[in-house]
Amino acid sequence: MPENREHSAFDALVATADAPVYVVTLADGAQRAGCLVGFASQVGIEPPRFLICLSETNHTYRVAAGVRYCAVHLLDAGDRALAELFGGRTGDEVDKFARCAWDPGPHGVPVLRDAVAWFCGRILGRHDFGDHLGLLLAPEDGDAPESAPPTLRLHHVLRLEPGHPA
Ligand SMILES: Cc1cc2nc3c(=O)[nH]c(=O)nc-3n(C[C@H](O)[C@H](O)[C@H](O)COP(=O)(O)O)c2cc1C
Repeated sequence: MPENREHSAFDALVATADAPVYVVTLADGAQRAGCLVGFASQVGIEPPRFLICLSETNHTYRVAAGVRYCAVHLLDAGDRALAELFGGRTGDEVDKFARCAWDPGPHGVPVLRDAVAWFCGRILGRHDFGDHLGLLLAPEDGDAPESAPPTLRLHHVLRLEPGHPA
């Protein structure tokens, strides 16, 4: 199959899967950072493990170099404001945390007050995937309601222009 046909099948499959998107936040003591992340998945059950991938162009990637923990949030599907702030703006230009409600969480990670659910993960390993860095997380603390509203998925943010080109 020609490469471009493979790509279009792959892109179509990813769009059809319509995966959840998350906001990852972290702080290194001097700076806070966070961005919208679609490359994320549970990758282990016992022990529980979760992988998130940060684009090497992002402000969040650079701050992540000095941290041992991060928070992973699910947003309400209707929360355009938080999705646009974390996916459409860059911490190179704006202080995202001056524009949203958050609290210091476990190990100082910023926890978004309006998130539907979140967990704090300890970073166990860093994996170079080419243009993205994978952070392997051991989930520790967090909060999630027993019944949640529909949460943000890929199709809600497909037209959102990333704050940094990937
Ligand atoms: C649908 C969608 C999915 C995205 N997935 C990722 C991702 O998996 N990893 C990542 O680092 N950036 C991803 N981005 C891009 C960042 O969220 C975006 O460039 C952000 O503005 C970067 O902010 P920062 O420079 O403050 O880190 C995604 C953006 C969108 C719209």
